Amino acid sequence: MKALQVVLLLLLGLLGARALPFGDGKPAMGFNTWNAFRTDINEKQIMKIADLMVSLGLRDAGYTYLNLDDAWSEKQRVGGKLVANKERFPSGIKALADYVHSKGLKFGIYGDAGTMTCALYPGSLGYEEVDAQTFAEWGVDYLKYDNCFAKREDWVLDRYRAMGEALNKTGRPIFYSLCNWGVMEPWLWAPQIGHSWRITEDILPTWDNVVKLLDYSVGLSRLAGKGIGHHDMDMLYVGNDHLGEYHPYGPFYQEHKMHFALWALMKSPLMVGHDLRRINQSSLDLLLNKEIIAINQDELGVPGDLIWQQGTRRIFAAPLTGGARAVVMANFQTTQTQYPMSNVTVYWEQLGLRRDQAAGVRDIYGGQDLGVFRGSFSAAIATHDVAVLRIAPLEGPTNDGWRPWHGQPLYAAQPANLAVPQPQDWIPNYSGPRTAASAQSQDKQQQQKAAQRQVPSTSHGPPSFALVLACVAAVAALGVVGYYIVLQRRLRGWQQLEDSEAARKAGELARMQQRSKDGWGNGA
Ligand code: GAL
Repeated sequence: MKALQVVLLLLLGLLGARALPFGDGKPAMGFNTWNAFRTDINEKQIMKIADLMVSLGLRDAGYTYLNLDDAWSEKQRVGGKLVANKERFPSGIKALADYVHSKGLKFGIYGDAGTMTCALYPGSLGYEEVDAQTFAEWGVDYLKYDNCFAKREDWVLDRYRAMGEALNKTGRPIFYSLCNWGVMEPWLWAPQIGHSWRITEDILPTWDNVVKLLDYSVGLSRLAGKGIGHHDMDMLYVGNDHLGEYHPYGPFYQEHKMHFALWALMKSPLMVGHDLRRINQSSLDLLLNKEIIAINQDELGVPGDLIWQQGTRRIFAAPLTGGARAVVMANFQTTQTQYPMSNVTVYWEQLGLRRDQAAGVRDIYGGQDLGVFRGSFSAAIATHDVAVLRIAPLEGPTNDGWRPWHGQPLYAAQPANLAVPQPQDWIPNYSGPRTAASAQSQDKQQQQKAAQRQVPSTSHGPPSFALVLACVAAVAALGVVGYYIVLQRRLRGWQQLEDSEAARKAGELARMQQRSKDGWGNGA
């Protein structure tokens, strides 16, 4: 590892000046407007979000950046400078930044390393110095720098380095977040230029997409961390309740738990992307979970990674300061059957611990210590759910030198994970497979029970035909109303999905047209 670090540092040295060192080097936490509002942003709404970040306890939990995404400016520069959109930000960006600062928050903005932003506002290519200076004058603390509308011959490293150098020149510490969607392996050069870099294309509010982004993150942990910079898995969708409605398999609560825990474990920036004006308590509790945040902000700052996989069962892990390990055992099974759980076992040697070492196991989402274990720990995990564990050795040797890439091979054949599932583990009072004889006796028992349960006849006599008819009619009416409501909701959900899909396609078309005007480049 030492050798790799030296080679990396030498390579980085050749590339030019490093970005200004930034604060404590921990992943950034905050709020970004894009996932919640897209281009529909304005100053009143942002001020309200700032108020809510304070009153909901997000600021105090560590979410300190409030970042504007695309569409904050006018469509044209004025005197060569970017200016705030007059209709939606009439008081100007400086006034908004001042308001955000007055709440004890930091203020972030969005720019683009091409001729236009993805939503067709002016880009900063060729204007890096003047824009960086404008941002610094406005009191900007964070810049997300996108990658739309750039030509291939404007080499990606040059474009991103130019803005990095311009930010450095201002003398104001500005967190520089590169958003080039993982193009040209930014993890190999971005540490030289900025503080975090996107490793994938945009996150979407679907389960499949969350799984895809996780797959893209595999094997990257050794290339980021404290003193290097952070892989950005893109902004959070935690709390966006349309997730489940938009897509039949969209994330439900357990999927939000997995999304949040794994983004935290990977040391990705944690940028809330939900409209805080209508957040529900369970989503807020998730975002405020101190122990998950502590994994993300751990002093050691080493990203987690996939350490084991067998089919849809996966284990991700990261070392924590002081020798403990953060472990996420996940069940990616999607088919909802009568067995919606799977057993997963993590072995101590996968975590760089001695096989017979005693370790305390804490269930973080459950909020309880599960006891002292030696050698391994098993849990039954529901589909799309996770067990997030803190495994802390209680006896030596303890060290935090273990890394996810030191573990056992992904294909390790451990006995517990190769054991065929047993019915007695999953079926209460299991009494062997059904035979013709046992089926008959079970049916008989059920009939007897049903007979005992029958209401004894009373002096009132049997219910009249009219009463039965009325009951049937009432149930049918309720059914029709219920079905109508569900149908309406579904239709609305699908309509929204179609609208957003159509909007996305229209945007893509506009970009393609623009690009073919500009010549094909490496933009989106
Ligand atoms: C994308 C970027 C998104 C968002 C959007 C704005 O390129 O990845 O996070 O910023 O542009 O148009």
